[in-house]
Amino acid sequence: MHEHLRFIFIFRSAEVMAIVLSITNQKGGVAKTTTALSLAHAFARKNADRKVLLIDLDSQRNATSILLGNQEITPERSVYSLFQTKKPESGVLYATKMPNLSIIPSNLHLVEVESQLSGALDGFFRLNDALQSLRHEFDIIILDCPPSLSVITINAMVSADFLLIPLQISKFSIDGIQNIRDAVTTVNRRYNAHLKIAGGCLTLHDGRTTLSQAMIPEVEKILPMLKTTIPRSVAVEEAHLMRQDIHDYAPGNKVATAYAALADELEAVFAADRGGAPP
Ligand SMILES: Nc1ncnc2c1ncn2[C@@H]1O[C@H](COP(=O)(O)OP(=O)(O)OP(=O)(O)O)[C@@H](O)[C@H]1O
Ligand SMILES: [Mg+2]
Repeated sequence: MHEHLRFIFIFRSAEVMAIVLSITNQKGGVAKTTTALSLAHAFARKNADRKVLLIDLDSQRNATSILLGNQEITPERSVYSLFQTKKPESGVLYATKMPNLSIIPSNLHLVEVESQLSGALDGFFRLNDALQSLRHEFDIIILDCPPSLSVITINAMVSADFLLIPLQISKFSIDGIQNIRDAVTTVNRRYNAHLKIAGGCLTLHDGRTTLSQAMIPEVEKILPMLKTTIPRSVAVEEAHLMRQDIHDYAPGNKVATAYAALADELEAVFAADRGGAPP
């Protein structure tokens, strides 16, 4: 290799930054948080050298309470601080039971961010700015979005490389998907040309119902779908109650297996985008 090309190659590989994956759907209860938690664990479990970060962008704090329990979290040491102009404190990162998985927890004060940012010129870019340094520290950053197409969700789209859209099949989900697609088009055009849709993923899926089977082609007309589907299992609710990852709670469970397969499928999408390099 020519000497200066070799230098560029080494320089670029040292510069490789985290992939930011946003789990987004404005519809409530479609398994965004379950998917964010399960994928974060699956990515961390697959490679102990890889550093994974989960960011809880929902003031309901579901991911936070599952991973950190009742631990007291001040606004300054939560995701709230990522939306302030002041640089975030290093104390926003919390360790989890998994050594290579960290979380930036949510806090109820996050609801104030909507009104704080509504008049700010850089309102859609706060999260992206805050993530700049974190992108160098982690390999994969997963964003658990709230159930709305709010300023916070737009911040997630502006920061993300990929969008994963968990969905349950119904007439309403099809209308909702069209709204997300329109939002992605606008974000691509005006704020973040790099944002790509990794795909939709059927969650809480019951393959036996003819309604959901019949509607899959309709969904595929609007949204590219990932091959992996996530079935229903009571073990998910039980694992959440025990504050455990589904794989740790029930390793052979069909949902645990499905999320491992989804992580594999997404890694292939990321690698293809990076010309074959794994994240
Ligand atoms: N595969 C599954 N099987 C059974 N129950 C599930 C499964 N996935 C998620 N659930 C349950 O469905 C409910 C909604 O899931 P979750 O909280 O992950 O959705 P969400 O999209 O994050 O909701 P919100 O929009 O309120 O943030 C939860 O009670 C969760 O335990
Ligand atoms: Mg949620």
